Amino acid sequence: MGKTIIVSNRLPLKVQRTDAGFLLQPREGGLAIGLDPMYRSGDYLWVGWPGLTPENEAEQQAITALLQVEGMTPVFLSETEVSSYYEGFSNGTLWPTFHYFAQYSAFDYEQWAAYVAVNEKFCTAILTIAGPDDRIWVHDYELMLLPQQLRQVRPQATIGFFLHTPFPSYELLRVLPCRKELLLGLLGADLIGFQTLGYMRHFLSSVSQLLGLPTHNSQIETPSRTIWAEAFPMGIDYNRCVAAAGAPATQMFAHTYREALREARVVLSLDRLDYTNGIAERLNAFEKLLQRYPQWQGQVSLVMVVVPSREQVELYRKLKEEIDELVGRLNAQYRTINWRPVHYFYRSLPFEEVAAWYSLADIGLVTPIRDGMNLVAKEYVASRTDQRGVLILSERAGAARELADALLINPTDTSELADALHEALLMPETEQRRRMVAMQALVKQYDAFAWSHRFLAQLTEVKTKQLGLA
Ligand code: G6P
Repeated sequence: MGKTIIVSNRLPLKVQRTDAGFLLQPREGGLAIGLDPMYRSGDYLWVGWPGLTPENEAEQQAITALLQVEGMTPVFLSETEVSSYYEGFSNGTLWPTFHYFAQYSAFDYEQWAAYVAVNEKFCTAILTIAGPDDRIWVHDYELMLLPQQLRQVRPQATIGFFLHTPFPSYELLRVLPCRKELLLGLLGADLIGFQTLGYMRHFLSSVSQLLGLPTHNSQIETPSRTIWAEAFPMGIDYNRCVAAAGAPATQMFAHTYREALREARVVLSLDRLDYTNGIAERLNAFEKLLQRYPQWQGQVSLVMVVVPSREQVELYRKLKEEIDELVGRLNAQYRTINWRPVHYFYRSLPFEEVAAWYSLADIGLVTPIRDGMNLVAKEYVASRTDQRGVLILSERAGAARELADALLINPTDTSELADALHEALLMPETEQRRRMVAMQALVKQYDAFAWSHRFLAQLTEVKTKQLGLA
């Protein structure tokens, strides 16, 4: 068997321009957290956008050379492509539709044309490095047409696709003018993976209703091939979290934070700035906690790390303003000289600092309005090496299907959420431990390595069956 080529819109490293030249840095987001461990452990190639537009040919070559050392091939996007394919169709049409924010979804034919063209650009880049025996594993909503584009040129290729976001119900998908093209694009793959069984069912139902293709037992029959769809809940690098929890750097940060916070109990929230993450609702719920149960005033702080994301998209800018205001108002109203209700960080933190917050957090507060999986919930669980702590988790995150021992809440019900916070703050240690031990066993068993191995093994098996060798 040949090599495995991972393809995603972005590479797992950010290229940054500095006075001393270009620098590579890890980047945030679930996709990178879940795939990077596998990538580092074996002989893989990765194709994707480096997130920076070179100013000239020399810069392009310098970036390409830097990434080549890491086994990565860049696909450069022009500024127009960034605004039409990435900010426009991917994040202004598909992202809101797939997360059930249909009211934010706009459709523009030019952006759609750019999406088709950039998927083609990825296709060309892959074909220059892929041999006939290589496996190509395409990721996420930005590249839904790519499997079919690859298939047209290489009919025998082994192609997998994994969707990191939810796949919405047929009723949402059918609104998009390009709904059939998107489904046909995915059907270029041999195996199509989803985070949960629910998303997989939505996909199969769309395939039969929009394309009229027969589906049975997770298989789709097309005139030329049988295609498999399956759920592969994504995991995290469990051992990395455990090791980070005990590392001296983490402990040093944790010590500094603890001194600054004095005795206050810590509720931790950590996500990218996104309307799908329910950040404003979370702040409102925290305020309700302080109003309804005033005994917690002065006793509990919300540490809220918000990682900047998609800052050029108008909606994201507005959301940032809304959150800034909410935090300002809440702190102004409740703070005392010795205590601040919300510690708000608007930046991305290095993993040792994140690990320090995980270790200090009595409560992990993960409340997305809609989320494909949510790996922060899993990282919080893995990092609690003393088995204390309570995870409060949105029932609308894919992770809720597995982490049934969390306190599961409806993220739009701020009243229920305030009560869950109160319950978590009062939860006896034996109960915390019982829940945490059960969740840790699960997160450990289905970690990032198990996830990627399962997908790739299944892809090979599907191909073998298709070729009639099994
Ligand atoms: C989510 C998506 C990824 C995306 C990441 C970061 O995890 O599923 O495909 O890469 O967010 O978003 P960005 O737009 O910065 O790549």
